[in-house]
Amino acid sequence: MRKRRTRPAGAELRHCDTGGMPAAPPPVPSVAALPAGLATLADHEAHARTRLDDNAWAYFSGGAGDEITLRANRGAWDALQLHPRVLRPLQGGNTRVQLLGRELAHPILVAPVAFQRMAHADGELATAHAACALGAGLVLSTQASTSLETIATAIAHEPTRGPLWFQLYLQHDRGFTRELVQRAEQAGYEALMLTVDAPTSGARDRERRAGFQVPPHAAAVHLAALPPAPPVALEPGQSAMFDALLRHAPTWDDVQWLQSISRLPVLLKGIAHAEDARQAAVLQVAGLIVSNHGGRTLDTMPPTAALLPPIVDAVGTALPVLVDGGIRRGTDVLKAMALGARAVLVGRPVVWGLANAGAVGVAHVLRLLRDELEIAMALCGCARLADCSPRMLWPGSP
Ligand code: FNR
Ligand code: LAC
Repeated sequence: MRKRRTRPAGAELRHCDTGGMPAAPPPVPSVAALPAGLATLADHEAHARTRLDDNAWAYFSGGAGDEITLRANRGAWDALQLHPRVLRPLQGGNTRVQLLGRELAHPILVAPVAFQRMAHADGELATAHAACALGAGLVLSTQASTSLETIATAIAHEPTRGPLWFQLYLQHDRGFTRELVQRAEQAGYEALMLTVDAPTSGARDRERRAGFQVPPHAAAVHLAALPPAPPVALEPGQSAMFDALLRHAPTWDDVQWLQSISRLPVLLKGIAHAEDARQAAVLQVAGLIVSNHGGRTLDTMPPTAALLPPIVDAVGTALPVLVDGGIRRGTDVLKAMALGARAVLVGRPVVWGLANAGAVGVAHVLRLLRDELEIAMALCGCARLADCSPRMLWPGSP
């Protein structure tokens, strides 16, 4: 029997505690036990490798090309060095942050990740319950294997949940895209996160070697009724990429179109260049996500820890800047905040937790990150994340 929660969200999942998922709206994910010996996100990764088949592993863990950016994301957070202050008062400290007019319990959000039922039968629903229990924001992918309505029904009325946002891939059929946006609005999603860094997939060599295919049970449910793009008769010399596939790729005009058809705030995910950040600020988007798509799109891009500071400089306090890519430790979260991020998103670690123990595994991953963040803050003499600044980093650390 599942118990009704009597403690505040998140208080119930410290380290290997597996209890206390939120009170149950329908439908309810199964509650699996957490395997022993998982103390870090890296432990979750190693264990997840034993749970996922080669097809799923190639998709979830792979990056583009030679995976230089994938590795660089991690390396860049590791290379930054924290420079602590001591003897500062810490009582009353907390991990709270302000984001789009809400106060969040902590700055860790679940990144949009497609096809989660490939990692666990409970898929996105388990992730949503876990995010809810830990007060983490949740971004549902356009390519989710669970419908946006199912997720919203399950958690929208949970008092402890963080923000619920919908990640949007503009589809070639703009009427279809508009209906998808309307569905998200009606279901109670609070913001749209338009992904702008993937007009096409990256060259995913691991996926191609593995012959990756989405299994039917994990298909992208929102796109099931998408009409196929009308065929294009290419003239000699025209490119199947630029003249066919990319002819509907989103542009700045589409950002304005999206803002005009929806009352929801629009954030742009996949901003890497300060000029693009300035352009986004001119259009008064609600926020930016500095991202290289977890190293899955353009290989040899710089790591996000390097991309972040110039973008924070470019937009100043005009809009919040979030970051993702390679965040695996609470110290990484604190470094991101020190570089000016308002919040961070995590992608693959959520999938590892999901593969390892469904909702409990995801909750454990989020709990570990948050616990580590608190420890890092305490040891840096930082009681509030609003006080973070580059002065917390050792000068000259890359
Ligand atoms: C993603 N990401 C992604 N982004 C997006 O906008 N829509 C999507 O559907 C997906 N799907 C997706 C699947 C998988 C398997 C991964 C690993 C990533 C990118 C994701 O939101 C995020 O930017 C990165 O995952 C962040 O990097 P880390 O935390 O995985 O290192
Ligand atoms: C990916 C797409 C779905 O990274 O964004 O696989």
